[in-house]
Amino acid sequence: MSMIEVDKLTKDYGHGRGVFDVSFEVNEGETLGFLGPNGAGKSTTMRHLMGFSRPQSGRVSIAGMDCGSQQHKLLSKVGYLPGEVALPEGLTGQQFIEMMQGLRGVRSNERVRSLLELFRLDPSGSVKRMSIGEKRKLAVVTAFMSDPEVLLLDEPTSGLDPVMQEVFTEFIRSEKKRGKTILLSSHIFSEVEALCDRIAIIKDGRLVSTVLAEDVRHGLHNIMTVEFDSEKDFRRFIQSGMEPDEASGRYCRVTVDDSDMDRFIHALKGCRIRSLNEHCVTLEEYFMHFYKNNKTFGGVCNA
Ligand SMILES: Nc1ncnc2c1ncn2[C@@H]1O[C@H](COP(=O)(O)OP(=O)(O)OP(=O)(O)O)[C@@H](O)[C@H]1O
Ligand SMILES: [Mg+2]
Repeated sequence: MSMIEVDKLTKDYGHGRGVFDVSFEVNEGETLGFLGPNGAGKSTTMRHLMGFSRPQSGRVSIAGMDCGSQQHKLLSKVGYLPGEVALPEGLTGQQFIEMMQGLRGVRSNERVRSLLELFRLDPSGSVKRMSIGEKRKLAVVTAFMSDPEVLLLDEPTSGLDPVMQEVFTEFIRSEKKRGKTILLSSHIFSEVEALCDRIAIIKDGRLVSTVLAEDVRHGLHNIMTVEFDSEKDFRRFIQSGMEPDEASGRYCRVTVDDSDMDRFIHALKGCRIRSLNEHCVTLEEYFMHFYKNNKTFGGVCNA
């Protein structure tokens, strides 16, 4: 069952900015990674899911409830960690926690205490004097204290030191095990790979690819570098219909999907080759490909 649904979401801020016709879903208990360069539309999508912005067209819902018109019902179900944490500076951390407990209807202090302990945060000081990381931790504590079913995490570990990043990653792993549904935007490939079941890539406001994390871990595509014995052998290979990404003289580089491997091996039949090297495309390489240009590795991969 899909818990988060984004259906043809469009918000046009002009000059090509915003999100356009974005559709995806996150199933109950699933973690979807949301990757994309700066300005791609990740935070905009999340703000719509929180009901802070209304779609120009399309629909966003959580647990079947429209995020705009039923926002009040969703607040207790959803934990949101914004990309930019803006906290009221006139309060102490503790006062802020109490204010959020009131808003979220959280009565027990037990979870707050364990979160403060886990993230090693002393909330007694004024928010104004907290470091960026401390403010981030405070936002983490308030996002998780109601033990929400759905988590919208916008670059959750930015501003946290490496030790705290690890603590956070472990914490998310345990939340996943408890069946939480998570949408997580990040620029850290290892974090996305470690935590997510599927990964959606957004660029210039449009979803360009969705891949299974398992496929990423096994290598999304294979890049084969072939050195032929002669140019004649190379031409024979080309005549079989294979399209290299790069070729010069006796050498060529060709991207081969798993589904294309048979065709590739068939194309090599009858060709004399000197060497054949295989390189599996990592998530970072796959992502950077979208970042740098519009081409895909032999076609968009959708999961
Ligand atoms: N309220 C707004 N008014 C005008 N333009 C906006 C508004 N909010 C976002 N944008 C524009 O929409 C685009 C997407 O912004 P968004 O914050 O969603 O990007 P992002 O993917 O979260 O980027 P980052 O990785 O830098 O956080 C950007 O070009 C941004 O300038
Ligand atoms: Mg953002």
